[in-house]
Amino acid sequence: MQDKTISGFSRLSKEEKLNWIAEQFFEKPQETIKELKSFWHEDAEQQRVFDGFSENTVSNHFLPFGIAPNFVINGDVYAVPMAIEESSVVAAASSAAKFWSKRGGFHAKVLSTRKVGQVHFSWTGNSAALKAAMPDIEQQLREDTRHITTNMEKRGGGIQDIELVDLTAEEPGYYQLRVTFETCDSMGANFINSVLEEFGVSLQQMAATHDLLRREEASLDIIMAILSNYTPECVVRTWVECPVEALDAAGQNMDAATFAEKFAKAIRIAQIDPYRATTHNKGIFNGIDAVVLATANDFRAIEACGHAYAARDGRYRSLSSCTVKDGVFKFWMDLPLAVGTVGGLTRLHPIARLSLEMLGHPNAETLMMIIATTGLAQNFAAVRSLVTTGIQKGHMKMHLLNILNHLKATPAEQEQAAAFFADKVVSFTAVRDYIKQSRNNRLVPEHFLKK
Ligand code: MEV
Repeated sequence: MQDKTISGFSRLSKEEKLNWIAEQFFEKPQETIKELKSFWHEDAEQQRVFDGFSENTVSNHFLPFGIAPNFVINGDVYAVPMAIEESSVVAAASSAAKFWSKRGGFHAKVLSTRKVGQVHFSWTGNSAALKAAMPDIEQQLREDTRHITTNMEKRGGGIQDIELVDLTAEEPGYYQLRVTFETCDSMGANFINSVLEEFGVSLQQMAATHDLLRREEASLDIIMAILSNYTPECVVRTWVECPVEALDAAGQNMDAATFAEKFAKAIRIAQIDPYRATTHNKGIFNGIDAVVLATANDFRAIEACGHAYAARDGRYRSLSSCTVKDGVFKFWMDLPLAVGTVGGLTRLHPIARLSLEMLGHPNAETLMMIIATTGLAQNFAAVRSLVTTGIQKGHMKMHLLNILNHLKATPAEQEQAAAFFADKVVSFTAVRDYIKQSRNNRLVPEHFLKK
């Protein structure tokens, strides 16, 4: 086997990296280099900023940036920016937004904004001594991190509680400091991690100097200090409600009451069955991730947290809920969301900066409401399709377009293909054969064909 490993790759210049990768892994190196370079930003300074976001960069990876207009949330109207590669998602969000804009809009409120971090450590001494020393430890930790927390405190945030958690029953000698934080409009990862690492250093020192701990002649070892992406106390609620009869236009060939009951049952199924819940929640994250990405927040953190929250009672369930009671349809979701509108890439990434401007420069709480609402809208649209027409109808339209683009179909060919496949099953082979045949038969005038 040819050795394609390399040492010192990160020290190569960008051109050298490109050359190496093209030579090693591509059949046509020069063409590959040209293609990768074609995605460089024309403004070298802007490209330098993009390169700075990560390491070993050789080009940019593009995603479509779409807009879902008509989101009415607490009476304000938003055009929601969405960065996503999956067809039908933006269309579905837009359609749900418009639907609910005529039925009172979405409502949202932030229930809490506390984030959590942990210092994991082991202590071989007596746990009673550790507990007794906690008030002093807490005071010392707060003092030792004053240089990091002062600014955050001026903004109304900082360290909230520091709690000692004894987990020795699960793992010998294992304890944690579980710390809660308020990080205002920033996601706060750097702030939290800096504080926690400093806590680790101080705690270690205290084990050697504090009377109660020194006496134990025991060792205290810091295992790790890191924020938790599980933020069940940083939660936003979003909901819609309307009289059942106002759902008249929701289900094709289905009356409003039947639609409401069928929709609510679909949500209950996702509450009961983890197989369905996973797909159901994936649909919610179609909307959430797209806005999170557009605003340069951390979609991996938000996904991880959302899925952990969906399993908080020990079983993985739907994140959304629905009731139909006394003639009223209610559909809602509580979701933990740790996002920021300052710091990170929010201002550095040009599309994130424009996305936040498009949303009216929201603070973190407003952004939480917008993101969760987009998730709920997405879920409404998906489940509405599923319990009425099925999703393939809408998907296939977009799928057809993607295939036609792949086959370099002209606008005229696209129009003819859309009409032809309106009542047929779309597959790559079927579309390719159709285009081939229509070109052979000159069904499409020559001058419409792409060279
Ligand atoms: C597809 O990306 C998302 C859906 O599967 C979600 C769902 O089934 O609820 C349509």
